[in-house]
Amino acid sequence: MPVLLTCLLQFMLATALSQDDYVRPAAKPDINPRDWDSKNFWFGWRKWRKDADEPEQVHITHVKPGQVSVTWIVPSRTKTKSVVMYSTEPEKYSNEATGVSETYGYTISYKSGRIHHVTLGDKKRLLPDTTYYYRVGDPNSKISKELSFKTLPSQGPDVPLKFVVIGDLGQTEWSQSTLGHISKTEYDMVILAGDLSYADRYQPRWDTWGRLVEPVFSRAPFMSVEGNHEIETLAFNLPTPFTAYNARYPMPFRESGSDSNLYYSFEAAGAHVLMLGSYTEYHPGSPQYKWLEEDLSQVDRSKTPWLIAVFHAPWYNSNFAHQGEGDLMKAAMEGLLYSARVDIVFSGHVHAYERFDRVFEDKADKCGPVYIVVGDGGNREGLATKYLDPQPSISLRREASFGYGAFELANSTHAVWRWHRNQDEVTVTSDEVWLQSLARPGSPCGALVT
Ligand SMILES: *[C@@H]1O[C@H](CO)[C@@H](O)[C@H](O)[C@H]1NC(C)=O
Ligand SMILES: [Fe+2]
Repeated sequence: MPVLLTCLLQFMLATALSQDDYVRPAAKPDINPRDWDSKNFWFGWRKWRKDADEPEQVHITHVKPGQVSVTWIVPSRTKTKSVVMYSTEPEKYSNEATGVSETYGYTISYKSGRIHHVTLGDKKRLLPDTTYYYRVGDPNSKISKELSFKTLPSQGPDVPLKFVVIGDLGQTEWSQSTLGHISKTEYDMVILAGDLSYADRYQPRWDTWGRLVEPVFSRAPFMSVEGNHEIETLAFNLPTPFTAYNARYPMPFRESGSDSNLYYSFEAAGAHVLMLGSYTEYHPGSPQYKWLEEDLSQVDRSKTPWLIAVFHAPWYNSNFAHQGEGDLMKAAMEGLLYSARVDIVFSGHVHAYERFDRVFEDKADKCGPVYIVVGDGGNREGLATKYLDPQPSISLRREASFGYGAFELANSTHAVWRWHRNQDEVTVTSDEVWLQSLARPGSPCGALVT
């Protein structure tokens, strides 16, 4: 009876209230908790799943046009071969690629499963906009079930492309809800603006997260930058910061001339995407800063009219949470992004949604990027519901709800950003804005740095 009553009440509330009175859902606990109480805790931490030879946690990452890397983990750590069998037809597998594997340790208490990395398309490029069917593993041991992924469309200024953009995902029922909504849509790539698993040093939770995200990240390339939850040090920079993140989620940094997995860039269709590190040096003269200057100098807006930046800690944020945490990086790099005419910036960290106007140095500026905060993927820390009052005039939309966004390039001049709120079972488009590229002919912003 109480259940029925609650349902009825919720239904009445949902129908009676307008969007602005939307009742915010509460945080949900991890679906894969740390299990502090279990007497097996310490053994659980060390647990070596000896017989678990099945490949799991499969995901795809874009390397360069016509190339992707496939990563998976075999929990048993048995040193099997790293093989991907694939083809454009189901159950055929006329192609085979091999790669390398590694493990990592985290203090003396944990050693990871065997992490396999294989690059497809390095000898012969993969076809653009094509579905490939694949299995991973070792044909002499265990191989995965058949999965499939779609390659990116070919490069070109007018080629349509859909990026899904998420942040601060974690592994709660809200994370599941976000992933469920995404999996029901078509998308070309998933971008995560940092804070992935919320393993928070308890390494087995990286594995539970890897299994949770597999259905979404094995279907299209997954690209991420690091958040503060990826640092995972205990004291004095030990263990080495980003140990698990770097081993499990290697990104194509060498391809863009970067020397660190913590910042890199890539191109997809008509976009050049800067993936920047909030938790590594960024001041002028630092390796990241010098790399960014060099990378921007090579952007050709006639080929990639869209210039996108992604980093974890937002430079613009009118939420009470994490106020000012992006200020140092902003002071160091805002001028670079502005003079390069970056179109849009995505961040996470703050567990809420916010969209700003085009901004430069805290003021509306028609040549500045649109700033978006999407730290609302669904982690166990819950939503950041307290906002600065009054709402700054440059903040155009703010809402503390779980959800995800999608940035769709229509052609070289037009793109649309949509934010979808997770409202119980349905996904609701709650914010939508069309953008015109700052590189378009007749843009009010003058000559571009190219
Ligand atoms: C680009 O896309 C927008 C939105 O769909 C459309 O209005 C516009 O006409 C397109 N431009 C060209 C040159 O096709
Ligand atoms: Fe964060």
